[in-house]
Amino acid sequence: MRRPSLDAARLAALAPGVVIEVLRETTSTNAVAAERARAGAPEGSVVAAEHQTAGRGRLDRSWATPPRSALLFSVVLRPTVPAAVWPWLPLLTGYVVARALRGAGYDAGTKWPNDVLIGDEKIAGILVERLQTPSGPAAVVGIGLNVSLTPEELPVPTATSLLIASGAEPDRTDLLVLLVEALVEAYDAWQAGGESARDRLAASYAAACVTVGRDVRVDLPSGDPLTGRATGVDRDGRLVVRGPAGETAVGAGDVVHVRPTDR
Ligand code: BTN
Repeated sequence: MRRPSLDAARLAALAPGVVIEVLRETTSTNAVAAERARAGAPEGSVVAAEHQTAGRGRLDRSWATPPRSALLFSVVLRPTVPAAVWPWLPLLTGYVVARALRGAGYDAGTKWPNDVLIGDEKIAGILVERLQTPSGPAAVVGIGLNVSLTPEELPVPTATSLLIASGAEPDRTDLLVLLVEALVEAYDAWQAGGESARDRLAASYAAACVTVGRDVRVDLPSGDPLTGRATGVDRDGRLVVRGPAGETAVGAGDVVHVRPTDR
């Protein structure tokens, strides 16, 4: 497989205020972006890598892909919205990535909170980390999108890649431009639009989230499972699950979409 490198020259002229650094190999783009943020990197600084040796996933998992087979990048943000609405940042990102992929012709959707699926298989993962820096609080938004992994290279059987889903290997530079521009535009609108923009995001996210309406098992951080029907997403971005004991709003956890045959 050819797996061309990212085209740094084409990445030099992105949205105003966006600067992308492309690394051949690093531990984790989230770790490097956090270092850059602590050293004063402004909002809109992006770190992309062709390969990660210690990629980080949600819930302390790892994230590994062969060199140049995925898009791996992290964006430094310095949100000015109230701290109480920061938890929407991962959901905003998952929503925007799925919407951008749909615009590019893929049948993508967002599984709560921010996995991006094609069909029922995971195509992209998002890890948002909050940190303190000398110039104030910042967020690092890390995105990993499987582009040309083959079935043998998938980390888990429940993952997929754009190549597997569509039969063709898309240009990673085009995709990186598409995703960074979509994220910056949606984030700017969310930041600038006040309460009404936040209400709009909550409504759009809930309408687009493929978990809503599904039977789910949520593995809660306590280790306990919660099973029931996902009925919505509340104003705080929590998944509402109707189970045997009534409705519970879940703020964190690993969701499994239960197929009728799994019951
Ligand atoms: C998940 O577990 O679903 C989240 C995976 C996030 C992976 C991306 S790859 C780019 C960035 N750097 C990291 O170390 N992690 C994120």
